[in-house]
Amino acid sequence: MSGYVLAIDQGTTSSRAIVFDDHFRVVGVGQQEFAQYFPRSGWVEHDPEDIWHSVVETVRTALSDASLSASDIAGIGITNQRETVLTWDRATGKPIHNAIVWQDRRTADICRSLQNDGAEELITQKTGLLIDPYFSGTKIAWMLDHVNGAREKAEAGDLAFGTIDTFLLWRLTGGRIHATDTTNACRTQLFDISANTWDDDLLKLLRVPRAMLPEVKDCDGDFGVTDASLFGAAIPIRGIAGDQHAATLGQACFEPGMLKSTYGTGCFAVLNTGSERVPSTSRLLTTIAYRLSGHTTYALEGSIFVAGAAVQWLRDGLGVVDRAEQTGSMADEADDNQDVIMVPAFTGLGAPWWNAEARGAIYGLTRKSGPKEIARAALEATCFQTADLLRAMKQDFSGAKDTVLRVDGGMVASDWTMQRLADLLDAPVDRPIVLETTALGAAWIAGHSAGVWPDRHGFTERWRLERRFEPQMAAVERGRRLALWENAIRRTLAA
Ligand code: G3P
Repeated sequence: MSGYVLAIDQGTTSSRAIVFDDHFRVVGVGQQEFAQYFPRSGWVEHDPEDIWHSVVETVRTALSDASLSASDIAGIGITNQRETVLTWDRATGKPIHNAIVWQDRRTADICRSLQNDGAEELITQKTGLLIDPYFSGTKIAWMLDHVNGAREKAEAGDLAFGTIDTFLLWRLTGGRIHATDTTNACRTQLFDISANTWDDDLLKLLRVPRAMLPEVKDCDGDFGVTDASLFGAAIPIRGIAGDQHAATLGQACFEPGMLKSTYGTGCFAVLNTGSERVPSTSRLLTTIAYRLSGHTTYALEGSIFVAGAAVQWLRDGLGVVDRAEQTGSMADEADDNQDVIMVPAFTGLGAPWWNAEARGAIYGLTRKSGPKEIARAALEATCFQTADLLRAMKQDFSGAKDTVLRVDGGMVASDWTMQRLADLLDAPVDRPIVLETTALGAAWIAGHSAGVWPDRHGFTERWRLERRFEPQMAAVERGRRLALWENAIRRTLAA
């Protein structure tokens, strides 16, 4: 069988399909952005049909870019934006509402009342998560409560719920398979991460009918085959993992203490903690890193909602840059005598603050401040937030003491940002040669599960470093800058 594997990476702002050969080289790519809908302040939606069409088209583009046909592909691995919620009619396959995206804050009130009712302890004990609109559970309940007749239909088993992977799987298999994997399930707030099952207490608490839930499989399970009419031949679907989990695998973070951070729309740092779940005392998430062939590996995760999205705002909102790549050199040229600090809480603050109501702010502006200082503030905010996460991880898990951060995602192309990151973390930052780590991780699951790619040892041996950034900033300056950040966060939370 051929060693070609196709990864579908359905992200928050774009869908990508990438064909890898058995040397893990990219041989074909398709990419499409799609519309973001902001119906009200703090609400974020996607049109499910946009997502579906973008996936079908990017797969076709990637195959043609690689000069391959569907029958050349040994397996598909799906990876996706997590927590985003979809519900569709089982009979027609039609979604009953736009997808409610992970960034959406509309369920802040439901979350507050859950908190007031003292539900957080149960949720954390079973799911490793906290109460926040970020996760899927309250979003599903909102949809069932706001779409006419939806709750009754869901209870009768006529509606199907899914995160993006599940929706794509359903459509790709022509409505034959309604399933997800553990890494997506564990972000719904309905899944017990120790028992590896949907949990009845949580379903009752969040008022989600069991009849609408997908079957949960291991990441390397058998997810059926694509409908032959889509790409010209049936392709086996051999792997699924949420994007941050796939990136953890793509970065070959297989050992406890290994840490990766992905800088996409948001930033998500995932620390492998091994086969035991480690509780967090610092308001990080305990989550499933991945589950392969019946063995669960756990992680601590720090989730930041805005990273690349701040740069996107500089481009599309403020209009101070034409291209995101300009921000690195602008930051480099910014005035060192100005301490402009941005807290990009556009959709609240994630770990370790978890404040759904906080909104963005810029501090320290003077009459000399301009686009360069603001660009530096946007990039540095991501570094400050990662520093908060690493500090929390070191408190929670002794195995993180001397860890090195493996990075990927669009923002890591900026040398300035990576150097500032190493400086503020006071830890080395490793940038790999292959930056498509999310897609590569999904491809590895599928390739290995289809029997055409090597096991984790063989994969690890081929992971290659492009550049290590060592901390260079003097301790006094690091301390001063971190204090400026802490002050900015305090003021934002108090506002
Ligand atoms: O938890 C949300 C995350 O999975 C989204 O990732 O890469 O689309 O920003 P990304």
